[in-house]
Parts: sequence; C-alpha cells; structure tokens
Amino acid sequence: MPKALITGITGQDGSYLAEFLLDRGYEVIGMVRRTSTTNFDRIREFQDRITIVQGDLLDQVSLIHLLQEHRPNEVYNLAAQSFVPTSFTQPVLTGEFTALGVTRLLDAIRIVDRNIRFYQASSSEMFGKVQEVPQRETTPFYPRSPYGAAKVYGHWITVNYRESYGLFACSGILFNHESPRRGLEFVTRKISHAVARIKLGMANEVRLGNLDARRDWGYAPDYVRAMWLMLQQDHPDDYVVATGETHSVREFCQVAFDHVGLDWEKYVVVDPKFYRPAEVDLLVGDASKASRVLHWKPTVTFQQLVRIMVDADLTALQQTGNHTPQVG
Ligand code: NAP
Ligand code: GDD
Repeated sequence: MPKALITGITGQDGSYLAEFLLDRGYEVIGMVRRTSTTNFDRIREFQDRITIVQGDLLDQVSLIHLLQEHRPNEVYNLAAQSFVPTSFTQPVLTGEFTALGVTRLLDAIRIVDRNIRFYQASSSEMFGKVQEVPQRETTPFYPRSPYGAAKVYGHWITVNYRESYGLFACSGILFNHESPRRGLEFVTRKISHAVARIKLGMANEVRLGNLDARRDWGYAPDYVRAMWLMLQQDHPDDYVVATGETHSVREFCQVAFDHVGLDWEKYVVVDPKFYRPAEVDLLVGDASKASRVLHWKPTVTFQQLVRIMVDADLTALQQTGNHTPQVG
C-alpha cells in the first residue's frame, strides 16, 4: 500500500487530495499544526481513515521525526499561509511558512530518504504582473505580493533540490481553484456565500474590492488529480495547471446572482478597504504541457463551478441556519 504524507490536510486542497488518495488505496498521513482548538471541518467525514500527526513547517525537527517515523513514499506540501492580503500585513511570517517551510521539508527529505517523491504547491501568483499571455512554465515570474514572492522562492528551491540532489521533486504551478470547501475569505466563496445569504434573507449586500481582476478559475477536485499525476511520471518536472479561460470578479458576481434570480448590481458594493497594495490584474494559464504529458484536463466549466458553489452554500445555510461567521 503506497503511503502519502500531506501537509495542509485541513485546507481545501488537502482535504480533496486525501479523499482522492484514499480512493486509490493509499495510506494517508495528514500533518497538522498544534492549535488550542482543532480545525477538522473539511476532513471530518473521513478522519477515521487517515492518520493525523502533529508537525509544523516552522519546526524542522518535527518534519524530520515525521518522515523517520512514517516513511512515506510521497509527500505533498500543501501547507502555506495562502491568503494574499495577509501576506501584506504579515510578510515575514508568510515567508517563514510559504518560502522557508519548503526548504525545511525538502531538507528533511534529503536527510531521511531521498527516494521520497515530493510535490510543491506553487502558484499562478508567481506570474503577478504577467510578462506573457497566456502564462506557461517558461513565462518569467513577476510576483506582486509577499505571498507571490515566497512562492517563487518555494518554486526555485524545489527545482534546486531536484537538480542538486536528484530528488524526485515537482512543482505544480496551479491557477486559482475553488470549491464549496474554499475558505470564506477568498473572493469566490465570499460571493457564493453572500449570494446564498442574500437569497435567504440573511443579508442585503456584499462588499468587495477590485471587480476588474481576472482569474483562471477551476474546480479544486480536478486540480488535486493533477498533483498526483505529476508524482506518477518517470521523471520529475514542473507543470502549469489551468483551464485556459479567464473571467473577472464582476462576471463571477453576475453568474452567481443570476443563478438565484437576483440582479448583482443591487447587492454588490465596492469598498476600497479590499483593494490590495499591488494587484494581479490578469491570470490565464496554458496547461498544454499537463494535457500532453499527464493527460490532464479540467472537467468543470466556469459556469458550472459558480453554480456548484452557490448551490452548496444555499443547501448548507438551509440545513444549519445562519451559523457561518461573516467574513471581511
Ligand atoms: P488553505 O485552504 O489555506 O490551506 C492551507 C493549509 O496550510 C491549512 O491546512 C493550514 O493549516 C496549513 N498550514 C498553514 N501554516 C502551516 C504551518 N506553519 N505548518 C503546518 N501547516 C500549516 O489553502 P489551499 O487553497 O488548500 O491551498 C493549498 C496550497 O496550494 C497552498 O500552499 C496554497 O498556497 C497553494 N495554492 C492554492 C491555490 C488555490 O487556488 N487554492 C492555487 C495555487 C496554489 P490550519 O488548518 O492549521 O490553518
Ligand atoms: N479575497 C478577496 N476579497 N478578493 C477580492 C475581493 C474581496 O472582497 N474583491 C475583489 N477581489 C479580487 C482580489 O483583489 C483578487 O484580484 C481576486 O479577487 C482574487 O482574490 P482571492 O480570491 O483572494 O485569490 P488570489 O487570486 O489573491 O489568490 C488565490 O489564488 C492563488 C493562485 O493564483 C489564493 O488561493 C492563493 O493561495 C493562490 O496561490
């Protein structure tokens, strides 16, 4: 039975990846950091089928011990401080988690077992102020946030450990991917959740920042399949994973409100509080390498994604009432 260690298992992608690997017969070890209260909402349904272990990307000794004790065949490094605005207010901590955390884990692998296959969660945020449209593996990086800069470091240290020590280390340059499990602070979920609340009479507006920003939005379960495929190849490499379509935040609002029969312009309020010190205006990826080598293709369209998210929030709110916290 192959064994996989996932850092960031309590996050959106970690939870989908764990389910995906369990379905393929993997033994799954999930690393969580110590907190005073647990945050297992996304993994509760299959928690009894995985092993939860404590570790922290800030603490290299914990990573070495984990690898020594559990001897995984594959390590998926999904843990990060992943919210771009927080990276502007906590740039040093973001660098510790999202940049140096990658080196701590790679070096732990180098010390414990160089045969471990490693996946690094790189990001389209690395393209930032884009130097080419669409963006592909060879497009130069120009990050626009401390988060993007940290991910560039994480990307290059992954390439460096592959080239220096022969590790099977892959970097997946994933464009935005969303789902009903997306954190409430990210724009897609903020909108889908607000649409459901407005439709149910629980709210009467949603305050957003830059409506002109364009993203290449895909469906998270499709993207964790690409992560796994990268580690099943004969050679380690880096891949862009994207749908190839780009849509604005405004379009996301239109489709989401339309889906419940409401006019978005009556409910969306632009609030400069949500503008960023530097913005990524346009992302659209060219995933032809992933298609050619991994035979990967997205299965969910933009319109379907928006409807999946709105429907999930409507159902959850109808079942549980208004218990979800309001977010900024
Ligand atoms: P997410 O929902 O924010 O999950 C992040 C995970 O990292 C959580 O499980 C969190 O644990 C964990 N974590 C944070 N700091 C940690 C630390 N010091 N030690 C151990 N664990 C820590 O993110 P996601 O959307 O699933 O994304 C997964 C990865 O892909 C991230 O690296 C993200 O930057 C990257 N990425 C995401 C996208 C996207 O569109 N979703 C696109 C490209 C790249 P807690 O539960 O304890 O907070
Ligand atoms: N969060 C948020 N909240 N974003 C808003 C809002 C708002 O109220 N209004 C407009 N936006 C715009 C942001 O300015 C940004 O241009 C866009 O919506 C998307 O923002 P997020 O959903 O927060 O995602 P992101 O693109 O900054 O980052 C996500 O995708 C990256 C991949 O490109 C995160 O998942 C990163 O971890 C990931 O690497």
